Amino acid sequence: MKKQLAALILAVLPVFAFANAGGYHPESVEIDLTDKAALQDGARTFANYCMGCHSAKFQRYERVATDLDIPVELMMDNLVFTGAKIGEHMKIGMRPQDAKTWFGAAPPDLTLVARVRGNDWLYTYLRTFYADPARPWGVNNKMFPNVGMPNVLESLQGRQVIGCKQVQVVEEGKKQFDPLTGTPITHEACDQLTIVPKTGKLNEAEFDKKIQNLVTFLAYSANPVQLESRRIGTYVLLYLAFFFVFAYLLKREYWKDVH
Ligand code: HEC
Repeated sequence: MKKQLAALILAVLPVFAFANAGGYHPESVEIDLTDKAALQDGARTFANYCMGCHSAKFQRYERVATDLDIPVELMMDNLVFTGAKIGEHMKIGMRPQDAKTWFGAAPPDLTLVARVRGNDWLYTYLRTFYADPARPWGVNNKMFPNVGMPNVLESLQGRQVIGCKQVQVVEEGKKQFDPLTGTPITHEACDQLTIVPKTGKLNEAEFDKKIQNLVTFLAYSANPVQLESRRIGTYVLLYLAFFFVFAYLLKREYWKDVH
């Protein structure tokens, strides 16, 4: 028993180590896989900003078009830039060995990344690139220290730096408020991520939404049958409800004579 317990702990340990690499706490994000508008926006961002380097090679364009209600023509014009046909997998032209030379690490395929890293990790990773002149691309990342990926979304987010910002005081895990006025008690902290004003096309809320949509798309991509199973699940429940009525009526009919 003791041995099994030790084996279990040892098996689980690397997961925690991995999840907390970098020591930065990921922010949680709400994902709604039934939100077609969010999925479509995420797919567009993925095709425009990520597929220069990352493939999603276990996924076909056609499947995405069908699942996300994107007409084939729109899909071909706005999401397929590699000259691929609609029935093909979402591959890219960059060769892994070239990528390794350019970035120091090959950009991994992203089809299943949401399952490997989790939605919260992705959401935080994509929002926590910050200026670091010591790095080859001039940026570092809070979730992935010394990452090889440049901040490809800087034109949208703006230039993020480590700077000073008023943050709410937290004591014993609780945010502190002034007992008289109810306003948050803040202090200046100088290790905070801050956006240099007017350097990005989107404001902070808009950018967060963009990333939420992108993560929604990645979550769908890692588990495309989830959308389908939900739809089927609804039908199953409706069927059961319907069936119940008949079963009940039938039961009443049979028992009438018994009473
Ligand atoms: C210019 C090329 C390039 C573009 C464009 C790019 N990436 Fe990357 N990405 C990389 C490289 C290189 C790595 C590997 C970094 C490393 O291992 O140090 C990486 C790593 C990642 C990882 C970490 C994967 C893991 O689990 O280790 C994620 C997630 C990711 N990219 C998501 C994205 C998303 C989403 C986009 C689009 C918004 C994007 N990338 C656009 C080059 C790129």
